[in-house]
Amino acid sequence: MIKRRRVAVIGAGFMGSMHAGIFANMVGCELAAIVDPNLALAGAVAAKAPGCKVYDSHEALLAAERDLDLVSICTPDNLHLAPAVAVAKAGINVFVEKPISSKVEDAQAIIAACEAAKVRLGVGYLLRFDPRYAAAKDLMTSGKIGEPIHIYARRNSARTEGPKRYGGKLPLALHVTVHDVDMVLWMLDGQWPVSVYAQQTDRLLGASGTQDSIAAIVRFSGGTVVNFESAWSLPSGARHMIDARMELIGTEGSFEVQCGDSGLYYAGNDSSREIDTQHWPVINGRIDGDLSRQLNGLLAWLDGADMPIATGRDALRSLELTLAMMQSAESGEIVRFD
Ligand SMILES: NC(=O)c1ccc[n+]([C@@H]2O[C@H](COP(=O)([O-])OP(=O)(O)OC[C@H]3O[C@@H](n4cnc5c(N)ncnc54)[C@H](O)[C@@H]3O)[C@@H](O)[C@H]2O)c1
Repeated sequence: MIKRRRVAVIGAGFMGSMHAGIFANMVGCELAAIVDPNLALAGAVAAKAPGCKVYDSHEALLAAERDLDLVSICTPDNLHLAPAVAVAKAGINVFVEKPISSKVEDAQAIIAACEAAKVRLGVGYLLRFDPRYAAAKDLMTSGKIGEPIHIYARRNSARTEGPKRYGGKLPLALHVTVHDVDMVLWMLDGQWPVSVYAQQTDRLLGASGTQDSIAAIVRFSGGTVVNFESAWSLPSGARHMIDARMELIGTEGSFEVQCGDSGLYYAGNDSSREIDTQHWPVINGRIDGDLSRQLNGLLAWLDGADMPIATGRDALRSLELTLAMMQSAESGEIVRFD
């Protein structure tokens, strides 16, 4: 018999409301509670899931709810630590949106708390559940690519999206590049970064507290060289919402992941736009795509299935490399890893 999992979500904003919507509709899962100091926001999310309780803090949640299997933490990056540690100490499995935190010390404390409490810790790197990246990873493990020589990883999006939501709060690298950093570390299993050099620009978005673009070159222990390129400065009329790709050249073969085109365009008399079919599209009234596959995979992972959920230690590695890129871009110097 399938065990019914009781899940709570902390943070009822952009990501938390989607997590809640997915858990509420998932077979074998009950969305037990949603937490946000903004009770009106939490209440609006809970209204869509019969029986879902609302709390204004993780302390109130943990005092009232005794038999949760999982808590998904969707607070801003710098506010992951306190709820993650408290949930782990309560003996409940933890899922944290990416990046695990904005600070290495916080990431280490979250990992330590989960290990001490013997609960599982997953981090929201949803591209691992994108069919194209997942199939590319299978090509790597099948041996068809051979030894990786070079990777190019790009993620460019419009100035009207990310900067509007995260400008002044999040650096571009920590919000955007970190997805590709996780992908590259996943593809280059067994290699570790040796050195990184990065440059970034802020002529357009500096006034809104973030960067236009960052470019980084990373050398790995096995000799693989990786070029990262991220921007959220494309014009608002850009054809693609997220122009993302990964090209990997190996000794025996290569692959090319093309995510620039969602395959669906809307045009009206005054405007046109691409519609998401990849990350979290609403299909038949339910949130689908990479995020839904990831959260379904998460529950299967808790049940013992082999799923590519990013662990806390994976997320610490991607955080460290991304912070090193930012350090190099600030200083203009190469950052070397010991
Ligand atoms: N996987 C992805 O592709 C992806 C995309 C966007 C955002 N994110 C990540 O998701 C997380 C949330 O981002 P968002 O865009 O949803 O932010 P958001 O600002 O829309 O929502 C955050 C919510 O957390 C609430 N909150 C703040 N402090 C809280 C606390 N102590 N307890 C409970 N709730 C609290 C806020 O009131 C807000 O409603 C971040 O870590 C972000 O980097 C991931």
